[in-house]
Amino acid sequence: MNHELRPRVIVNFAMTADGKVSTRNWTPSGFGSRTDRQRLQEIRARGDALMVGRNTAEIDRMSMGISRLELRQARKTAGKPAEPLRVLVSGRGHLNPQMKIFSTMRSPLLIFTAATVSSSIRNAFPKSVVIHTLLGEAFSIQAILSILYCEYQVRTLVCEGGPTLMHALLEADAVAEINLTITPLIFGGYGAPSLSGLPGSFLARPLDFQLKSMDVNGGECFLTYERKQ
Ligand SMILES: NC(=O)c1ccc[n+]([C@@H]2O[C@H](COP(=O)([O-])OP(=O)(O)OC[C@H]3O[C@@H](n4cnc5c(N)ncnc54)[C@H](OP(=O)(O)O)[C@@H]3O)[C@@H](O)[C@H]2O)c1
Repeated sequence: MNHELRPRVIVNFAMTADGKVSTRNWTPSGFGSRTDRQRLQEIRARGDALMVGRNTAEIDRMSMGISRLELRQARKTAGKPAEPLRVLVSGRGHLNPQMKIFSTMRSPLLIFTAATVSSSIRNAFPKSVVIHTLLGEAFSIQAILSILYCEYQVRTLVCEGGPTLMHALLEADAVAEINLTITPLIFGGYGAPSLSGLPGSFLARPLDFQLKSMDVNGGECFLTYERKQ
């Protein structure tokens, strides 16, 4: 598999004024406004696929769908499926079949894992769930991106976190666009993550992004950055 072939990755996070994307107890996100949630849906609708890490899907009780009818219709008019392919990353394959993500199967769900998922757990998933097991060195964020590009024709991948998955994407220098909603809140706490992980989880090198747009609305600031070439 050619790891050079990968989708354009767009990420989206809501962040407090002190740079936190969650509290120190890693409570569910959703601290953005209605405008932020509308924007999240619009960014989601740009993707051929939507990817999250296992913890975010679980904590935020995500179904990973597009709730706004006009966005689903616009995608169909453009010749796309109404909703993007859903992609879940779980290195250890610790997956609870009760997760909300399994309760709605309006769009296909792919799971990428580095561990063998037991048949009793597999059998508890809806039949259409596809599991990609990449053992040992075969598991990497580059491999996942390459499979999405080559086998599923994903050209634009939207990632909604969380910080652990974002850290891996940044380490692979795979992020083309970052959308950030800065909310007028302070969470504090050394144990609360930023969008790239916990304090101390340094990247091997800094990455340059340039600001492409900034909108202020109702006390929130919406920023879009692009990776500098
Ligand atoms: N403010 C926001 O916009 C925003 C967005 C997203 C998340 N959050 C918050 O962030 C917190 C969750 O953070 P998190 O860092 O734990 O989330 P995460 O990245 O979604 O989940 C981490 C888990 O995902 C799997 N994973 C992610 N990257 C992996 C990789 N490169 N290789 C192998 N497995 C990988 C692993 O699952 P296994 O343990 O199963 O191996 C890992 O334990 C929650 O409080 C959530 O609400 C906030």
